[in-house]
Amino acid sequence: MRIGILHGPNLRLLGSREPTIYGSRTLTEINGEIESLATELGVEVEFFQSNHEGEILDWLESVSARIDGVVANPAALTHGSIGLRDALLGVDLPFVEVHLSNPHAREPFREVSFLSDIATGVVFGFGPESYLLGLRGLVARLGG
Ligand code: DQA
Repeated sequence: MRIGILHGPNLRLLGSREPTIYGSRTLTEINGEIESLATELGVEVEFFQSNHEGEILDWLESVSARIDGVVANPAALTHGSIGLRDALLGVDLPFVEVHLSNPHAREPFREVSFLSDIATGVVFGFGPESYLLGLRGLVARLGG
């Protein structure tokens, strides 16, 4: 089984970006933890981060034939991207929407997700652990 791990805009700044909200771990450190869990679960993971919506849509399209599902933190695209919603529907892959913070406990505009209703599952608010819970849940759902 192979799972795509998608990090949306600004997540490359983790570690220094608003640490009171997102914590102090860098994206590289978080990816390392995801990789360790993937090894434990016996699955392969493939990482992608971009600040550009079009690149994310292109990545989904290009990777869709070789992965079985996606753990996605779409970051700000969550709250406004019909393009990302359509791409996820288009590639027809199961995905888990994850967020480090709990968007529902923040500004009102973060309460809207263009993705939650089409996600296999959602995990919000556990910091980097959200990715790990999302990966565990997705692999279990896929029968791994
Ligand atoms: C985020 C929450 C989003 O609202 C925000 O735009 C992000 C990060 C999170 O992981 O908590 O960039 O997805």
